[in-house]
Amino acid sequence: MLLGTATAIGCANIALIKYWGNCDPDARIPANGSISMNLDGLVTRTSVTFDSSLSLDQLSLNNQAASAPALARVVEFLDTVRRMAGIQMYAYVESENNFPMGAGIASSASAFAALSLATSRAAGLELNERQLSQLARSGSGSACRSVPGGFVEWKVAACDIDSAAESIAPPGYWDLVDCIAVVSQAQKPTGSTEGHSLAYTSPLQTARVNGAPERLDICRRAILEKDFETLANIVELDSNMMHAVMMTTRPPILYWQPATLAVMHAVTAWRKNGLSACYTIDAGPNVHVLCPAASASDLNNLLRQIPGVQQVYQAHPGGPARYL
Ligand code: DP6
Repeated sequence: MLLGTATAIGCANIALIKYWGNCDPDARIPANGSISMNLDGLVTRTSVTFDSSLSLDQLSLNNQAASAPALARVVEFLDTVRRMAGIQMYAYVESENNFPMGAGIASSASAFAALSLATSRAAGLELNERQLSQLARSGSGSACRSVPGGFVEWKVAACDIDSAAESIAPPGYWDLVDCIAVVSQAQKPTGSTEGHSLAYTSPLQTARVNGAPERLDICRRAILEKDFETLANIVELDSNMMHAVMMTTRPPILYWQPATLAVMHAVTAWRKNGLSACYTIDAGPNVHVLCPAASASDLNNLLRQIPGVQQVYQAHPGGPARYL
């Protein structure tokens, strides 16, 4: 017997002010708030079916049986939803990204956003956006920001168990483009979850977290006022601060490759020469270069000429996670 089935899609997102380190790692309550932009067209599509004939949960990722760690993470998430819905059936989950693995685009955010919508509906729950964002957070912190649309803030007050993300401006509010310069397709050496757990071994993490409210204010205001220069400066500062923390944990994490640094230097020089562009880097070597839409095609051509840049993807601000 099928209890229910549902399909949803969620966009990836790029953090403008970063989430790094938790005050409660089990509940994924972050040490500091963060702001991101959803990435239109870079999506995960997920279908979930609860079926009493199954004797275990099953997960297909990009048309292949998932690895044991990926399955374990999804089973834990399904257990949460089963508890909420008061059901015991196992589920079949089919998830597909339309962007290549190794493109430097985190898939856990889009994956757990889509999974939250699909699983809760298939289990018979009707959750509002805030509840869906909280549920997505339990699977992957940054996924809570892929539930609402456009420019999104994940606010945090005093290790709040109900912490969730909300939209601060819709996707059409400001046509920024994220040009993603891919410099490596290799699997990253340290995953985000492990990285978060090391954050407080860096002497710099407390200073980074203490300064986050001010950076969030500056970033939020820059978005609302469409002030690219202010946005550029705060986004680069925040990215550099997160990587300074990563490089000074025990053991240290160095995500950058030589071509990562080449792109950072080039973007800095281009901005000095009047091109509106800034860089930000998540937990990997690939560089997200943001610009107003009018500069995107110039920027794309320039990025492709940098030795070591293998590919450039582009994304405009994306909408909320939604059912299909
Ligand atoms: C560097 O959300 O991937 O991209 O909660 O363990 O799944 P988990 O971590 P994740 O961490 C994202 C880290 C980041 C910054 C950000 O997206 O804010």
